[in-house]
Amino acid sequence: MKSQPTLIALLLGALAALPANAEFQHQPRAAGIETYGYTWNSPDQDMNRALAHKANARKGEAAYKVCKGCHKPDASGQADADYPQLAGQHASVIVKQMMDIRAGRRDNPRMYPFSGDWIVSAEEIADIAAYLNQLPIPSSNGKGGGANLALGKTLYDKDCASCHGKNGEGDGKKFHPMVAGQHYSYLKRESRESRDQGRRNANPDMVKVLKPYTDADIEAVSDYLSRLAPPKK
Ligand code: HEC
Ligand code: HEC
Repeated sequence: MKSQPTLIALLLGALAALPANAEFQHQPRAAGIETYGYTWNSPDQDMNRALAHKANARKGEAAYKVCKGCHKPDASGQADADYPQLAGQHASVIVKQMMDIRAGRRDNPRMYPFSGDWIVSAEEIADIAAYLNQLPIPSSNGKGGGANLALGKTLYDKDCASCHGKNGEGDGKKFHPMVAGQHYSYLKRESRESRDQGRRNANPDMVKVLKPYTDADIEAVSDYLSRLAPPKK
């Protein structure tokens, strides 16, 4: 029989290790695009640590455990619940978005409790990003209704391709996300939120382009992107 104090210590230890405990964490709020003088992608210490780390995809696979419930074991996300597909995304993009959520530059109260350094270190974030980047990209992502694809292509080629690439492949060196093959509902939401300054870590040059877009324009371009074949892994 263990003594009572040992049992209590064991119980307390188990409780502290539970991710559910993290749900009491509230996301901080840092300056974003609504702030005068905002600079997009100005790196903080946490980000520099992650970017300087020699990432290990195998360790990343283990650290990804805590993310699976929402983003799914194959990192395909959820088409109808606004959980993005992460498989195949550029590692730099994953690191930046994680750091923005940790610091409160991008609002994500649902994910915040699972993103802090009480769950993952800056180095583990780099490992997870390397792991996610080399995963095969599922093509089962949510698509739009298909009604305005010609308009979607015209808008994309004119306004978006210069940053996100001809085929929506993005640019890891510039922290530009891959947008091809992402869920329609997520693409639509992020584009709308960026236009309306709800996505506070958005890129100001992209916001300028999106400003005159109607909801119908955003739907057309998101639908077009959801059907673009992502690069083969
Ligand atoms: C409780 C659910 C939940 C958990 C657990 C979770 N996430 Fe998320 N994550 C979300 C939601 C919701 C969004 C999209 C929020 C939005 O629309 O802005 C998101 C967005 C992201 C993004 C931004 C993707 C992009 O393309 O910009 C990254 C990267 C990410 N999550 C990585 C992770 C990692 C890594 C973990 C584990 C350490 C994790 N998430 C755990 C819910 C979750
Ligand atoms: C000046 C370059 C630039 C242009 C032009 C641009 N984007 Fe972006 N876009 C970005 C960057 C950079 C991000 C990531 C912002 C951040 O760091 O959070 C982004 C993010 C996004 C996201 C969110 C992706 C994710 O994984 O969370 C979507 C969707 C998107 N852009 C769609 C568009 C569409 C549609 C257009 C054209 C109407 C467009 N972008 C034009 C640079 C650009």
